[in-house]
Amino acid sequence: MAPVPPQQRLEKLIEVNRLISSTLALPDLLETIMENGRQLFDVEGCSLLTVEPETGDLLFHTIEGGSDDLRQTRLKAGQGIVGWVVSQKQPVVVNDVSRDARFYSGIDRQVGFTTRSILCVPMCYRGKVLGAIEAINSRSPLGFQEEDLHLLEAIASQAAVALHNAQTLESVLLEKEAYRQELGNQFRTIIGNSPAMQRVLDVAQRVARTKSTVLLRGESGTGKEVFARAIHNWSPRPKNLLWW
Ligand SMILES: Nc1ncnc2c1ncn2[C@@H]1O[C@H](COP(=O)(O)OP(=O)(O)OP(=O)(O)O)[C@@H](O)[C@H]1O
Ligand SMILES: [Mg+2]
Repeated sequence: MAPVPPQQRLEKLIEVNRLISSTLALPDLLETIMENGRQLFDVEGCSLLTVEPETGDLLFHTIEGGSDDLRQTRLKAGQGIVGWVVSQKQPVVVNDVSRDARFYSGIDRQVGFTTRSILCVPMCYRGKVLGAIEAINSRSPLGFQEEDLHLLEAIASQAAVALHNAQTLESVLLEKEAYRQELGNQFRTIIGNSPAMQRVLDVAQRVARTKSTVLLRGESGTGKEVFARAIHNWSPRPKNLLWW
């Protein structure tokens, strides 16, 4: 797709920002940033990386215009130009990567691509780097210019807020699902009215009121877990967290 002419860049930037801030689901958001952000630049490729909180690794989420799918690929913290951008919280323009010692050529080898120039900016939210966006191989004879950098920074700052919101929403939804399942388990009632089951229920309810340790035995699937939860719920413990 042809990039927008320079005089329409501002208009397009506003549209991109509007799209980014109205996209809530994380995968859709990443795609929106890539697809629309890219139209502002005359480049061969564009990619977005996010920082994996546990490891600090950089994960490629999506790539536009690259020769292969990089979605499973990751970079170690600090690796490559993008690693530098994230660790230094600074944008960078490199119009000839072959002269830049920070450049990591492993990704090119993996996907059979030749990176010549990189424009990369961090996505920061409240002082924390959530990831970075990079534009690759400028088609302009002058390479990446100062103006391109400012434009990508404008997109990245908006993208960072939206990314933070989408990540927060995703984790809240996951937590909500876990609670929902847990609640379902807690309120699962015990089925069975045979005399044998009545005796077990009676013992379970009596023991639940004591501080005694309970050992539940029985074949797989006979309801040990159901009884364990029921005993806990009948005991004073669910209401008095200090007991633990
Ligand atoms: N008396 C019962 N009343 C209601 N549901 C039961 C009863 N017994 C078993 N179930 C159901 O059967 C399934 C297996 O029960 P549970 O997980 O308690 O088995 P378990 O004894 O802990 O098995 P395992 O030894 O394999 O862990 C659950 O879905 C549970 O809801
Ligand atoms: Mg069990």
